[in-house]
Order: sequence, then C-alpha cells, then structure tokens
Amino acid sequence: MTDLIIKQYESADPLYCQACSLRERLLREPLGMRLREVDVQYDGHPNMMHFAALVGGQLIATVSFWIKMPGAELRQMCVDSTAQGLNVGASIIAHAEEELKRYGVSMIRAHARVSVVGFYQKSGFFDVSQHEEHLGIPHVWVEKYL
Ligand SMILES: CC(C)(COP(=O)(O)OP(=O)(O)OC[C@H]1O[C@@H](n2cnc3c(N)ncnc32)[C@H](O)[C@@H]1OP(=O)(O)O)[C@@H](O)C(=O)NCCC(=O)NCCS
Repeated sequence: MTDLIIKQYESADPLYCQACSLRERLLREPLGMRLREVDVQYDGHPNMMHFAALVGGQLIATVSFWIKMPGAELRQMCVDSTAQGLNVGASIIAHAEEELKRYGVSMIRAHARVSVVGFYQKSGFFDVSQHEEHLGIPHVWVEKYL
C-alpha cells in the first residue's frame, strides 16, 4: 500500500476515537461485546504507546503497547477488514518495534488469538504457553525478542 502512513498517537488525539471504533468493530462486536471500561482504562497512562496506520488521513489499523521495562505487551491489534492481507499489520508492528527499540524495549509479548497466531509467527513471534480461553475464544501467549 503506497500511501500508508504509520504514526504514534496519544489518547487525547482525535485519532484515538477512530481507533476505539475500529477496536470495537474488529475485536469486540464479532464476540457479541462492546468495548468495555477495562479495555480502555489504561489508554491514557504514560506507559501506554499507541500506533496508527493511516490512508488519506483515515485510520485503518491500530496497535497499542503497555511498556513494562525491559518488555512491552502488545494489545488491541486490528486492521480494518477492507485493508487486511495487504501487509498493513506487519508494517505497523515493524514500525512500532523500531520505536520500542529506541525506547529501550527488548522483548514484546502478546496474548494472541489462536485464529491469527500465524500472523504473529510471520512477524517473528513464537508461542510460549498452552492454549487458554479468554473472552470465550482460545488464546496463546507469544513472544519476540527485539
Ligand atoms: C490479524 C490481523 C491483525 C492481520 O493483519 P493483516 O494486515 O491482515 O496482516 P498482513 O497482511 O500484514 O500479513 C502479514 C503476514 O501474516 C500472514 N497472516 C495474516 N493473517 C493471518 C492469519 N489469520 N493466519 C495466518 N497468517 C496470517 C499473512 O499471510 C502475511 O504472510 P506473508 O508475509 O507470508 O505474506 C488482521 O487480520 C486483523 O485485524 N484481524 C481481526 C482482528 C484480530 O483478530 N486481531 C488480532 C487479535 S490477537
């Protein structure tokens, strides 16, 4: 995707509202849920870093990281369904990893949905746990050293 821009944003940025809409649509509605207080309660915390992928000013992907040095936990990864399969997810993770490395982060972990674990594996993550239920669907912890 040639006109793709990836940038960091804060929870006070208007992009955050677009990100929450995408998160609700992609990560919660398919499970019959809404975005809950527990999903957003740390979004404004200084240890949280958010990244967006934009095309023509419109947010098409978002991912957040909870920094807990020397590591970071990847959260709320989603790409708009119209842009999936176009390397947007891999690009936003690669961009975020460079920023996180500059920040001193040396390891990323994620509680990945088993249905998309292949995506994380393609980005260099490896499985480090048994499958477990979360939000009613199987998840697995994955990790990657930067
Ligand atoms: C999972 C998701 C983030 C992937 O983003 P994407 O932009 O479609 O993925 P990319 O196009 O960057 O794919 C990168 C690589 O991962 C692979 N991949 C992508 N989704 C995959 C999946 N579900 N299973 C296995 N491999 C996958 C691609 O084939 C590609 O491989 P390649 O490098 O050999 O071509 C996106 O499909 C999504 O938002 N899904 C719905 C929300 C969700 O489940 N989020 C994750 C919660 S843990």
